[in-house]
Amino acid sequence: MSDEGARLTELAKRRGFFLQSAGAYGGVSGFYTYGPQGATLKENLEDAWRDRYVTREGHMEISAPDVMPEAVFEASGHLDGFDDMIIECPECGASHRADHLVEDNTDIEEAESISTEEIAEIIAEHDLVCPDCGTELAGEPVEDFNLMFETNIGPGSSSPGYLRPETAQGIFVEFPQLAEYARNQLPFGVAQIGKAYRNEISPRKGLIRVREFTQAELEHFIDPEEDEPPLSRVEDVVLPLYSAEQQDAEDGGIRELTVREAIDEGVVTSDWVAFYLGLSTAWYERVGVDMDRFRYRQHLPGELAHYASDCWDAESELGGDWVEITGFAYRGDYDLKKHEEHSGEDFSVFKQYDEPVTVERPTVDPDMSVLGPEFGGDAAAVAAALEDLAERDPDAFDDDEVTVDVEGEAYTVDVEATGFGVEEVTESGEHVRPHVVEPSFGVGRLVYTVLAHAYAEDEVDGEERSYLSLPPEMAPTTVGVFPLMDRDGMGEEARDLASRLREAGLEVTYDDSGAIGRRYRRQDEIGTPFCVTVDYDTLGDGEGDGAQAGTVTVRERDSTEQRRVAIDELAGTLTALRDG
Ligand code: GAP
Repeated sequence: MSDEGARLTELAKRRGFFLQSAGAYGGVSGFYTYGPQGATLKENLEDAWRDRYVTREGHMEISAPDVMPEAVFEASGHLDGFDDMIIECPECGASHRADHLVEDNTDIEEAESISTEEIAEIIAEHDLVCPDCGTELAGEPVEDFNLMFETNIGPGSSSPGYLRPETAQGIFVEFPQLAEYARNQLPFGVAQIGKAYRNEISPRKGLIRVREFTQAELEHFIDPEEDEPPLSRVEDVVLPLYSAEQQDAEDGGIRELTVREAIDEGVVTSDWVAFYLGLSTAWYERVGVDMDRFRYRQHLPGELAHYASDCWDAESELGGDWVEITGFAYRGDYDLKKHEEHSGEDFSVFKQYDEPVTVERPTVDPDMSVLGPEFGGDAAAVAAALEDLAERDPDAFDDDEVTVDVEGEAYTVDVEATGFGVEEVTESGEHVRPHVVEPSFGVGRLVYTVLAHAYAEDEVDGEERSYLSLPPEMAPTTVGVFPLMDRDGMGEEARDLASRLREAGLEVTYDDSGAIGRRYRRQDEIGTPFCVTVDYDTLGDGEGDGAQAGTVTVRERDSTEQRRVAIDELAGTLTALRDG
């Protein structure tokens, strides 16, 4: 772990941001509990995400179950393809992620996209050893390891289920109903903030690679033929881009281009992805990501997920490494098509024409005698499925063969041989299978980034101090309220003030223990942007003429500057400062 990582993990545990779960039982790798500060910081981030990507964009938000039946992941491709490469040490039995082993010990980058056989060869060529016991790993098999956690739904094993590896599937699988809620009007977006689970082979770096984490995902459904993103809102935003081309170039580095330039130069190929990169840049800054330690990196062709045709990651620099915090993917119609094929349900929207049009449509032989006597299945059911397909996707009959699914069985029929006819029909609209643009945020990685980037050290009154320069909107506590001392009525006044500020909706900590300087330091370390002190002047008992009665000092965290504010104006002033 880097120095930054070690320092952050120590601070996080001591001050209640996050800690490894079940420590009393030795802890379990890849599971973290957010403490009182961390849980609030995480919630503030989620609220800011919801504000940006749901409320202000006018999208819907849902909350789907964490456990879903096997059929969902058969359709989505996760059962087959959601694998990492694993190699086991023959001596100590430790399991390692083979691509990480290669990346950590050779100059090969992005080893994830290399095949298992080649990875095994690279491990042998470089004499790589087990990081735990030093045993040589040459000759050991590298295998695919599926990352999903499996369970049984109900007693027995007849109904397998899986903890979802991405929240997205909970949205895709409900698409037919969600399209109804959106009155079949594209484009529309559906968001979800929730848990995702991946049985990572080697969890690492605190919250960065864990087995249970929160995702904030938006699935934006668009008509690929018609819908354009509102680029005018973001076209002047400057994007720090690390394109596939730049990654390949000898002297490749980050290129700063506006959204408009990135599109015009063909650097970002999807306008929709470019739109979301533009929209998100200001958001990262708002929540406290240091934009000097931030970039958008394009996926290399071999790195793309099974569903994506283009993908850019937002990455933050942490302890000298670049870490993906968000994936912006163009998923096309991959997921909706798969769910339609596997479920037999309609995963399209019906787009009404302004005027009815006359079109040619394939007609289907209702007896399907072409299937011949040897066909043991239900010919009428196949005919019905073909008719349905002809209505939804007449172009499918342009191919030599068409395949339909009847109760889980695939039937392929030769179009030429069947004598399908063509009829003219009047149609009032058409079925469109939307494409999906997906910004997918990892909330834990954002929490970690925001904490790491907020950490600062300086000297105050000749003493070193460390503090978290969190944006007030993100800080778990907005204001620390202290009496100068808990006597002569200052304690009562401060406690009363604390409850009034809480009533006004502010996150408040009351503290009267220890010297005032130590109380400031405690709040500085958890990033509290304001501290309020009730002193003798507040009570009108100070040395002056009593002019400061009814006022308190407000100290600002980063500058440590203090000013006096009237108690009556305090809640309003602090709320305005928090909300920017
Ligand atoms: N629906 C798309 C999807 O899940 P992903 O790139 O696999 O894409 C999205 O994940 C985000 O989830 C990542 O950018 C990252 O922030 C977060 N994430 C993924 N795996 C994680 C893990 N093991 N631990 C913590 N966060 C993770």
